[in-house]
Amino acid sequence: MERLNSVKTSFFGKGATQLLTEELQKRGYHRVLIVTDNFLFESKVAERVGDYVLKANVEYAIYYEVKPNPTTDIVYECLEAARALNVDMLIAVGGGSAIDTCKAVSILMANGGKVEDYEGVNKSSKRGLPIAAINTTAGTGSEVTAFYIVTDPVRHSKMCMVDPNCMVDIAINDTDFMMSMPPKLTAATGMDAMTHSIEAALTPQSTPLTDKDAYWAITTIKDYLPRAVANGNDLEAREMMAYAEYVAGMAFSNAGLGMVHAMAHSLGGFYNLPHGVCNAILLPYVMEFNGRDSRSYSRFEKIAVALGLGQLKAEDAVRSVVAYIRGLSEQVGIPKKLSELGKVDPKDFDALAKLALADACMAANMVSPTQQMVVDTYRAAF
Ligand SMILES: [Fe+2]
Repeated sequence: MERLNSVKTSFFGKGATQLLTEELQKRGYHRVLIVTDNFLFESKVAERVGDYVLKANVEYAIYYEVKPNPTTDIVYECLEAARALNVDMLIAVGGGSAIDTCKAVSILMANGGKVEDYEGVNKSSKRGLPIAAINTTAGTGSEVTAFYIVTDPVRHSKMCMVDPNCMVDIAINDTDFMMSMPPKLTAATGMDAMTHSIEAALTPQSTPLTDKDAYWAITTIKDYLPRAVANGNDLEAREMMAYAEYVAGMAFSNAGLGMVHAMAHSLGGFYNLPHGVCNAILLPYVMEFNGRDSRSYSRFEKIAVALGLGQLKAEDAVRSVVAYIRGLSEQVGIPKKLSELGKVDPKDFDALAKLALADACMAANMVSPTQQMVVDTYRAAF
């Protein structure tokens, strides 16, 4: 038996945000809260979305204090604004941080309680407040997934929530909002999407439905990410990356992730480091770890084909896939080692490994590691 979660309505392509007006009219909302960060507020991107909201005769206010790796404090502040305005919909304008903030607020609006009450899998009972997501990056896939992440600022850890009740109602991937993404952000978010595809392909929870998405996304990201990083105005590359990160999101939302994300969540929560960069650095080391288990060979053989490396067998496939991903990361300018990020301290590896083992993503990893194995993987990547 298989349950497939997907978004109700999705719009793609240049100028797709204008379709928001008609959708809001059809659904009969009265008041919405646009949730974004300071940069997208100052650069009037949120206001451009607001114009489409006004055209639908819907009132809006803007909350613009979202930060990368959003904390519970940000969620509660945004929740207070949404409650005070009595909004009937949330509109995220941004990448994973804005969308995940909306998902947390949406669940709390409908179910009450605290963010941590929903940590883990399927913890809420009621469908959240409706969300529209105008995605401005090409990586997290949050506009299409049942996952959201909030940082606990006291424990310095990321809470991972997996909950179909948080899924957005209207997902918009409009390349007009992606063209100005700087190369570093394009690379980090693009490698996040590659990690989603590879983890979704490697998890034992994958199915033919999730496989078709995961392997297509691997091929598309390897073909188009270097182009999008080299030339942000390459419309075809931006468009294909928007499709690929969405499709990778569908794959992992239904198949799950694995040890790369579990370890990256610990790092991100502990040191406030960018999610995509942590994933990209850890990915080859975790693939080497999983690749020592012969159960992974058939998956690596298919990943090798998706990467255009040909028909390789067993350890050869693992070695070649790892080498290819290292080369891709280097080509798009991702640091090779955690030590290059400046904040990571090997003294913390035990604490980081404990957090990673408790992360909801770890359960989907092909091999169940011991704490020492996770520490060794951090050390190798350092
Ligand atoms: Fe991710």
